[in-house]
Amino acid sequence: MRFDIVTVLPELLVSPLNHSILKRAQERGILQVFVHDLREYGLGRHRQVDDYPFGGGAGMVLRPEPLAACIRHLQGERVYDEVIYLTPDGKTLDQKLCNRLSLNENLLLLCGHYKGIDERIRQKFVTLEISIGDYVLSGGELAAAVLVDAVSRLLPGVLNDETSALFDSFQDGLLAPPVYTRPAEWEGMAVPEVLLSGHAKRISEWQHEQSLERTRLRRPDLYARWQESENPNI
Ligand code: ADE
Repeated sequence: MRFDIVTVLPELLVSPLNHSILKRAQERGILQVFVHDLREYGLGRHRQVDDYPFGGGAGMVLRPEPLAACIRHLQGERVYDEVIYLTPDGKTLDQKLCNRLSLNENLLLLCGHYKGIDERIRQKFVTLEISIGDYVLSGGELAAAVLVDAVSRLLPGVLNDETSALFDSFQDGLLAPPVYTRPAEWEGMAVPEVLLSGHAKRISEWQHEQSLERTRLRRPDLYARWQESENPNI
């Protein structure tokens, strides 16, 4: 799977995408991430990429010409399944959307900065608008990094134990159960006996109960949805 990310701050994306699981996925050739500096498509001697908003107001808006030139250049090289703009007024990213995006071959991500991007770019090129949550970031770069991380770990071969993504929180609509490691007793706190029992069936039953209880207490909205999906006739 390939991501192309367009940004005015490429440095912001270098570190998050080049460590640990994402680094290994790129080394294995499962994942490719290319970051494009919008300024290379900037206007004039100063490579201008932004301007004041018509109608006034604080902050700058990314101009349409550099963005269009960059998008057209990239689209000339490959077909993108989606052109995604990261924006707080987009569709909220959740596990279901990550699963769907992980089935794509090529995604083009546009990061806004300052006040955002000229509306006409959204109308002309963008096929999907995504928010990572109901809060405002200074730009789309960290949101793009979140999206790339959450989607890439679902690609076959990215996680060492391929099944482990299946047990993530949200993957079956429930939160994940608590986890423990050594030592079995630490500062007077013992690991639940069942996890030390070696009894696979009892362990998975306990984990399922814990998942249910955690979801019921912490995310009643998810719990209600899970109950409905388990008992569609109720
Ligand atoms: N850009 C600024 N805030 C954002 C958010 N919450 N999600 C995605 N992109 C953003």
